[in-house]
Amino acid sequence: MKTILVAGGAGFIGSHLCEELLKLGHRVFAIDNLLTGKRENIEHLFQNPKFSWIEQDVRVPVYMNVPCDQIYNLASPASPVDFEKMPVTILQTGSKGHQNLLDWARANKARILLASTSEVYGDPLVHPQTEDYFGNVNSFGPRSCYDESKRYAEALSLAHKMEFGVEIRIARIFNTYGPRMRPEDGRVIPNFFSQALKGQPLTIYGTGNQTRSLCYVSDQVQGLISLMESSVDTPVNIGNPAEIKIIDLAKTISEVCGQKFQHEFKPLPKNDPQQRRPDITKAKSLLKWEPAIDLHEGLKRTLAFFKSRS
Ligand SMILES: NC(=O)c1ccc[n+]([C@@H]2O[C@H](COP(=O)([O-])OP(=O)(O)OC[C@H]3O[C@@H](n4cnc5c(N)ncnc54)[C@H](O)[C@@H]3O)[C@@H](O)[C@H]2O)c1
Repeated sequence: MKTILVAGGAGFIGSHLCEELLKLGHRVFAIDNLLTGKRENIEHLFQNPKFSWIEQDVRVPVYMNVPCDQIYNLASPASPVDFEKMPVTILQTGSKGHQNLLDWARANKARILLASTSEVYGDPLVHPQTEDYFGNVNSFGPRSCYDESKRYAEALSLAHKMEFGVEIRIARIFNTYGPRMRPEDGRVIPNFFSQALKGQPLTIYGTGNQTRSLCYVSDQVQGLISLMESSVDTPVNIGNPAEIKIIDLAKTISEVCGQKFQHEFKPLPKNDPQQRRPDITKAKSLLKWEPAIDLHEGLKRTLAFFKSRS
């Protein structure tokens, strides 16, 4: 049994990760300031004696009265609606917040995994994206607070490995979806389901020919755990390489809901990436990991969640 700290543990992916780590028999501490996460995401874990919950902002130095073996840092607002509302908070969370967690990892000789993002590739000119691609990123645009916070956090992790020997892991997470996403999150799946359940037209930005690759949350969690447990201390893409056009995703949402929805077209937001698909050769060969849940199945499970909340 390991003692594991999950920063951002009350969020969408973080809460599923806490659940899985508890199932594996670990002692889990979740830290979260509930900025974009919800207490109800983890309330069902409160009766588990191996689970503890700390309401705290990671921008404040982290201290626990028990030593820990591993830290997962998932603390960061992650949706485009947040980029506009709280860009300074996002940059501080990726810089000061990650620094505090690296300090705690160093003090405990713990291994620390950063939840980085496919956004480090920006609007990629290389397709699919491999980990050695440096990206096509705008440092002065609407998404730059998020993209640059994660790029800085990756560099800060590497610096701590080089200077202090901290054991680091970097997961470059590609679009992940599933139960517990916020309906008002602004990302494509919650947008479509929220509109579908209200019987509204599905909003498509641009022509809908832009692509996304969507990974179901249980696959993402397995990927993160595999990376943490591996010896790989360089960035690894964790996502589902099955690529779909947004317009086709809208059609699939109609199929899963068993109802045909109209489409409403709106202008494409600035710097919205045109193509996203992870090359997961590295994860497959070094972690022996690949996604198992196909889009239809993942969407059915996600629909059940959104229905239960509507
Ligand atoms: N979901 C995706 O498709 C995706 C893609 C790429 C990267 N990621 C990364 O994965 C992580 C989790 O994303 P998510 O989709 O679950 O988002 P989320 O917003 O549901 O989870 C983030 C959690 O971090 C918490 N948090 C934010 N700032 C904090 C702070 N300063 N101190 C403490 N807690 C803080 C939030 O309250 C929330 O619970 C994020 O770091 C995100 O950048 C997610």
